[in-house]
Amino acid sequence: MKALLIGGGGREHAIGLSIVKSGTELFAISPTRNPGLMRIARKVTVGNENDKNWVLENAQRIEPDYVFIGPESPLAHGVSDVLIRNGFNVFAPSSAAARLETSKSFCRDFMKEKGIDGNIESTPFSDSSKAERFIDQIDYDFVIKPDGLTGGKGVVVQGVHFNTKEEGIEIIKEYLKSGKEKALVEKKVVGEEFSLQAFASGRSIHFLPIVQDYKRAYENDKGPNTGGMGSICYSERGLPFIEDKTVIGAKKILKQLVERFSEKVTDYVGPIYGGFISTSEGPKLLEINARLGDPEAMNVLSLMENSMMDVAVSMIHDRDPGLEFKDRINVLRYLVPRGYGSNPTPSKISLDEENILLRGLRIYFASVSGNGKELKQTSSRSLAFLSEGTDLSQVASRFDNLQSLLRGEYSMRNDIGTKAMIGKKRDAMRNIRAGRA
Ligand code: GLY
Repeated sequence: MKALLIGGGGREHAIGLSIVKSGTELFAISPTRNPGLMRIARKVTVGNENDKNWVLENAQRIEPDYVFIGPESPLAHGVSDVLIRNGFNVFAPSSAAARLETSKSFCRDFMKEKGIDGNIESTPFSDSSKAERFIDQIDYDFVIKPDGLTGGKGVVVQGVHFNTKEEGIEIIKEYLKSGKEKALVEKKVVGEEFSLQAFASGRSIHFLPIVQDYKRAYENDKGPNTGGMGSICYSERGLPFIEDKTVIGAKKILKQLVERFSEKVTDYVGPIYGGFISTSEGPKLLEINARLGDPEAMNVLSLMENSMMDVAVSMIHDRDPGLEFKDRINVLRYLVPRGYGSNPTPSKISLDEENILLRGLRIYFASVSGNGKELKQTSSRSLAFLSEGTDLSQVASRFDNLQSLLRGEYSMRNDIGTKAMIGKKRDAMRNIRAGRA
């Protein structure tokens, strides 16, 4: 069989690797000549993944049995819609289903209307004077979120990115100044975040192991929010600082959401991602993404025994995909351009791939082009390294002195998946549960 994969980041490299595991012939449409996809795909067509008519023309030429869409932007631009209308098997949501991600206020309203647990107090604004009056009278710390897509970088949190109400008001005024945007003021909730991903098809949902993404640009969770600097996963054992009952609660919320949405709005088909936070009152849903996470997809697909092609075929035919996962821990760290998260300055990098592989690290290529050795960065994340094993110290130790195998200007967080960081998160959650935070 043939598959067409749309997108060209680290997540799509991981999806491609999972698809070809089943012996499927892979074709890709990517914004860059991603060296990872170039190695595994029969052909990579470079172009604008959001141009639905151009994507359709390519799909009609390739004639894939199944289509996979990695990022959210093609969904918002109607790429899945036009492919579904033209009879392709698409393992990704329609733009109507992707509204759960493309409009945060739509998702909050839907949860409220259907009585779905885990919702957070949230008020949308398109008028900045109304937002100012509202913020003036609330008595809780708050978060400001643009309503639409932001690539995970648009959320600002009181006490982290700004301190006073006045500063918050200035930020929301800036967001709303074009007069076209909407932004939400949400009650701030405190806890450890985790990503719960799943594959859905109508009312059926199959969960992947939870992952934690490190969103902040600098070590010790400082600096601006990014698309994600790295991530950790303990397979089906769950994360050591998130209680089992919290994961059970989060699964219940996501299942209820997909079921009610498929009943009342439209069938949800494809990957779904719940960004959750574990609070003293149980799990709360921060956001839905209508796709797998990046970097989270690399953690879970590396552990998943099944090919994503087999999963799509089963689920589109209403069968149980029988998901199975290796019992391993994995830690991923992204290499990004200097200044990523605020003012990225892309450059060229090179890597000693052979010795990186000899250390037991796997490489995922993201927003770079080149032959694998000499890579040209864009302003997005460049490449990711994944270490997998049974013992956390051994897994983390493979990153020691990794810089000796890399050349060029870049940034990387060295604290992701360390024992010290996991210990901090355990302590933080203990304090939250005891009401001390
Ligand atoms: N890592 C967060 C996201 O994919 O949205």
